[in-house]
Amino acid sequence: MPVRSLCCGRALNLGLVSAPTEITEPVVTAAVDAALAAIESATDSAALKAVRSAHVGEASPLAALNALMRSVPGDQKAAAGKLVGQARARVTQAMNAREAQIVEAEATAQLAAETVDVTAAASTWRAGARHPLTLLQERVSDVFVGMGWEVAEGPELESEWFNFDALNFDEDHPARAMQDTFFIDPPEAHLVLRTHTSPVQMRALLGNEPPVYRISPGRVYRTDELDATHTPVFHQIEGIAVDKGLTMAHLRGTLDHFVKALFGEEAKVRLRPNYFPFTEPSAELDLWHPTFKDGARWIEWGGCGMVNANVLRSAGIDPEVYSGFAFGVGVERALMFRNDVKDMHDMVEGDVRFSQQYGMTV
Ligand code: PHE
Repeated sequence: MPVRSLCCGRALNLGLVSAPTEITEPVVTAAVDAALAAIESATDSAALKAVRSAHVGEASPLAALNALMRSVPGDQKAAAGKLVGQARARVTQAMNAREAQIVEAEATAQLAAETVDVTAAASTWRAGARHPLTLLQERVSDVFVGMGWEVAEGPELESEWFNFDALNFDEDHPARAMQDTFFIDPPEAHLVLRTHTSPVQMRALLGNEPPVYRISPGRVYRTDELDATHTPVFHQIEGIAVDKGLTMAHLRGTLDHFVKALFGEEAKVRLRPNYFPFTEPSAELDLWHPTFKDGARWIEWGGCGMVNANVLRSAGIDPEVYSGFAFGVGVERALMFRNDVKDMHDMVEGDVRFSQQYGMTV
C-alpha cells in the first residue's frame, strides 16, 4: 500500500510497497517500479533523501530482497541474485541520475536568486569621519583628565549674568565691547550666545566646593563675518583651577605641560601682560614651536591669569583662603597652526573629505 509522507511542506509519494517475503520477478518488478516512480516524483534534494532511505536504505524492499538471498536454495541463487542485483543497479542508477538533475537545478536556482546586477548604480553611501575640532577637544580633555581634572560643559545659550556680570564686566565696562555679542530676543530675558567659555568658570565655582580643577571645551559665538581667519561660531577650551595656595607658577607649569602634551616636547609658552576683567593679573598666552609651517615663531593663542578676587567673591569663595587660575584657548586656531589649515571655511563647510584627512586621531 503506498505510503504518503510529508516532506518540505508538501506531500511526497514514497510509493512504498509492503516488505517482500519471496524473490519472484513480479515482486522485484513491483519494488523497482515503486522506487522509480518515487525517484521521479522527487523534485528537490530533501525529497530525494527521503526516497533514498525508503527505497535503497536498510528498511527498503530492495534491502529486504537482498536479505532473502540467504534463504534461496543453492540452485536458484544465481537467477535470484541476478534479478535482485539488476533491480538494485537500476534503482541506484535512477537515483544518481535524479540526484545529478536536482543538484544542477538547485545550483541554477541559487545562482539566479543571488544574481548581482553589475550594471546597477553604485551605492553613494560613504563612511563619515569625526571632525578634527572634536578630536582635538577630546585630545585636550584627555591631557587634563590625565592630571586629575574634570571635564565639564556649560550651556551655549547663556545668561548675560554668567557671560559678563559674574565675570566682573561692569554694566558699561568697555570690555563688554571687546566681544561682539549675539543678544537673544526678548532683551529683558538677558540671554546671549556665550561669547567665550569663561562663564563655565563661575558655573564650576557655584556648583562645587574648592578644590576645583575643570576643563571645559565648547562652542562660542561672536558677530564676526566668516572669512579665512574668522567664523561667527568657533570653539574654545577653558580651564579653571581653584585651590589653596595656587599661584601664577602653577598656571605656568600647567600650560607648559599642556602645550608639550599637545604639540610636542619642543613647544614653549610665553605669557605677556594683558587685561581681562575676570583675571588679575592677566596675560596673553603665546605659543612657540620650531616646526610651525611658517617657521619657528610665537603665535598668540589665548588668554589666562589668576582668577579675579571679585569672581571668587561672587561665587561665595573667600579669596583670603583660596586662589585660582584660569585660561582659555581657541580650538580652531590650534588646528590652524598645528595641522596647517589655512582657511576657516574648510572647518565649517562640512565636507567629509576635509575630516577624513585626520582619520580618527589628530
Ligand atoms: N575668555 C577669554 C577670551 O575669550 C580668554 C580667557 C580665559 C582669559 C580665561 C583669561 C582667562 O578672550
